[in-house]
Amino acid sequence: MYAQMIKSTGQGVKSDEQMTEQERAFQARIDAGEKIEPKDWMPDGYRNNLIRQIGQHAHSEIVGQLPEANWITRAPTLERKANLIAKVQDEAGHGLYLYCAAETLGISRDELVDMLHSGAMKYSSIFNYPTLTWADMGAVGWLVDGAAIMNQVPLQRTSYGPYARAMVRICKEESFHQRQGFHIMMAMCNGNQAQKRMAQDALNRFWFPALMMFGPSDKDSVHSAQSMAWKIKMNTNDELRQKFVDETVPQAHYLGLTIPDEQLVLNEDTGNHDFTEPDWSEFHSILKGDGPCNVERLEVRAKAWEEGAWVRDGMMAHAEKRASRKAAAG
Ligand code: 3HC
Repeated sequence: MYAQMIKSTGQGVKSDEQMTEQERAFQARIDAGEKIEPKDWMPDGYRNNLIRQIGQHAHSEIVGQLPEANWITRAPTLERKANLIAKVQDEAGHGLYLYCAAETLGISRDELVDMLHSGAMKYSSIFNYPTLTWADMGAVGWLVDGAAIMNQVPLQRTSYGPYARAMVRICKEESFHQRQGFHIMMAMCNGNQAQKRMAQDALNRFWFPALMMFGPSDKDSVHSAQSMAWKIKMNTNDELRQKFVDETVPQAHYLGLTIPDEQLVLNEDTGNHDFTEPDWSEFHSILKGDGPCNVERLEVRAKAWEEGAWVRDGMMAHAEKRASRKAAAG
């Protein structure tokens, strides 16, 4: 029931000859850097691929609230608590912008939420890991939001207008999240030995899951080729993973922490770090619903949805009443 079951349906990119005239004109608009807007004609594949990616992204934002909400009541100071509340609240806002962007493609929020709860749609693998200590709030902000920004900054240039515009504000806020996480890590690393050990332990547990956030390696990525041709994605999974490693290694050194990868080394020829790939069998097992927290995350989401039904019903009734009053007056 909780497996994330939606099937990958990526197919090869159509050549110029295989495209219809309408598809060729659409591709020319994309190639020229034009934005596609909701009322424009678009191929079904473009629409469905966007619904899949934006929907999964929206789900990731709201499921991503859960591991951190767990620590709001246990934050060590009032200031940390206020920052964490603000961050968790931002993630709800990100979900909202993204669900709205997906709705412009002709799918309703109720349909998307149903697919999340039934396991028919995915959310990011990273949120199926537990947050065991306060240092995890640092590691999540630093690494998870750091990886999210690496992936999302280029999406501000994505071809679909409502998605690109949603990403602008999301990226600004994610950047604050990354800094608040790094600030927690700095405090822990400048603390006593036990605090520094907690910081190292959090890095040890979140390093490889953060690398998995970028998706399977390029040779196994189903959607990259078509998504990049349509500028739904601007970089490949491996390109962004490499960029993340290269930017994060000096930050770990600054903190005095060790990346848990004995093979990690700066390759003098390429200027990039060589590193160990994540354990892809663990990634696939999480996608199948067998991660440490899959069941719990979806149960909590489904419960929140059911318990919030009276609020949604009340707001709909109020909106209908206002609309009928306005119609009667007009
Ligand atoms: N977790 C779960 N599923 C993943 C995944 C991950 N980390 N990485 C890839 N997959 C899934 C894909 O969705 C696809 O499955 P599907 O066909 O059933 O949808 C399958 O694995 C094959 O992967 P592909 O490389 O072909 O998939 P994509 O081209 O879609 O690339 C992606 C994956 C890079 C995550 C891309 O979808 C993307 O850039 N998405 C937008 C960003 C996003 O969703 N980020 C979520 C991060 S968390 C977040 O934003 C919250 C913040 O507050 C921290």
